[in-house]
Amino acid sequence: MELLPLVLACSLLFTIATPVRDITNDVCISQISDFQHLNSSGLHLTLHHPQSPCSPAPLPSDLPFSAVVTHDEARIAHLASRLAKNDPSSRPPPPTTASLLHGHRKKDGGGQLAASLASSVPLTPGTSVGVGNYVTRLGLGTPATSYVMVVDTGSSLTWLQCSPCSVLCHRQAGPIFDPRASGTYATVPCSASQCGELQTTTLNPSACSRSNVCIYQASYGDSSYSVGYLSKDTVSFGSDSFPGFYYGCGQDNEGLFGRSAGLIGLAKNKLSLLYQLAPSLGYSFSYCLPTSSSSAGYLSIGSYNPGQYSYTPMASSELDASLYFVSLSGLSVSGSPLAVSPSEYGSLPTIIDSGTVITRLPTSVYTALSKAVAAAMGGTARAPAYSILDTCFQGSASQLRVPAVDMAFAGGATLKLAARNVLIDVDDSTACLAFAPTGNTAIIGNTQQQTFSVVYDVAQSKIGFAAGGCS
Ligand SMILES: *[C@@H]1O[C@H](CO)[C@@H](O)[C@H](O)[C@H]1NC(C)=O
Repeated sequence: MELLPLVLACSLLFTIATPVRDITNDVCISQISDFQHLNSSGLHLTLHHPQSPCSPAPLPSDLPFSAVVTHDEARIAHLASRLAKNDPSSRPPPPTTASLLHGHRKKDGGGQLAASLASSVPLTPGTSVGVGNYVTRLGLGTPATSYVMVVDTGSSLTWLQCSPCSVLCHRQAGPIFDPRASGTYATVPCSASQCGELQTTTLNPSACSRSNVCIYQASYGDSSYSVGYLSKDTVSFGSDSFPGFYYGCGQDNEGLFGRSAGLIGLAKNKLSLLYQLAPSLGYSFSYCLPTSSSSAGYLSIGSYNPGQYSYTPMASSELDASLYFVSLSGLSVSGSPLAVSPSEYGSLPTIIDSGTVITRLPTSVYTALSKAVAAAMGGTARAPAYSILDTCFQGSASQLRVPAVDMAFAGGATLKLAARNVLIDVDDSTACLAFAPTGNTAIIGNTQQQTFSVVYDVAQSKIGFAAGGCS
């Protein structure tokens, strides 16, 4: 892979006016600044909750919680299927081969793109990249233009909707990227090594257009995907730019939510944003995921202050080298360990993920957690189950008396969860335990990570947690 020389022209604070949320009526009112800032401790970007009205591309304000749960289920199924794809003992049947583009309204050029696709991904259009994912901004092209992007630790390829949208682009915040307007844009030929990497990066085969341009197919579970041209251009954050960045120029984009332009992939793969910037910034990133009522948190790429974190080894799984795994070692409620055998905690591969809302635990662990939390909240009126959430209470998470829940990881790192990390409000008068049981893949979701600083140090193969990263 090409090195990305760091253009250190200057590291002035680059600011974009962004509003602060007024929680009482769900609008953003006062002003703070989005930051895109490179200094000796790396690149620092503002991160917004997908449902915060302060997000530059917020989800619809009337999005019901059921849509979040539905999306979460699809994401879990997708992550589990990624693992299954690589597991010889549970290899799923090969994808169906109906044309990806079949049935879509095609604009000029769509037919050609369709005809050039060697294969397809087994998906139907409809929902959901980004319901659970946080968003930030990224600049692209020369001169640079700014795009709202969802940030995803569970995938690698960065892509965005791209003019002329041969098949389909969704409405997005701001104009769609136009490669013809960039003096540094280039398509990537099929013979390039980056084209060869796509199978590993997206777990879908690449294809080759009639004009020898490499075509990527990125898919995200039930029904969302992006297909288009593998491309190369200068990516920038504020005044700092990185030439020669490989990404997808999406011509058929199905299932984008919240009017973002595309997705930033941060998983462990040569084509991820992390790995492409790493020669300049280093192989690590950290974030603080804000709550929905907060204006912003941060995403930082590159060096970080190591002292503040407690660490757990980054676990690896042969099932998927690109995802981030951890080893859960124990859970306690009000200081008492759950009544399960310690081996239960590690009985499933456990992914730590930025885009899954609800944490999934091995069924025996979940059952013990649910019982312990319900017992600790014995005086609180119960509410009926809500979809996959079966431990619900009348009231809101911020008002109920919620027991301390600690999640411990191998090596001693601990997430000491606050009430907002334990219960999630599903409607105005009901809060549910934000955990669910799973039989195949455990996931540490983003409700539990909110307000903690979390560092992914790929170079040293460890993950760290620190309280008090953002609000
Ligand atoms: C770099 O910038 C970030 C974000 O503005 C700030 O929090 C951090 O303290 C800065 N680091 C140094 C070493 O100046």
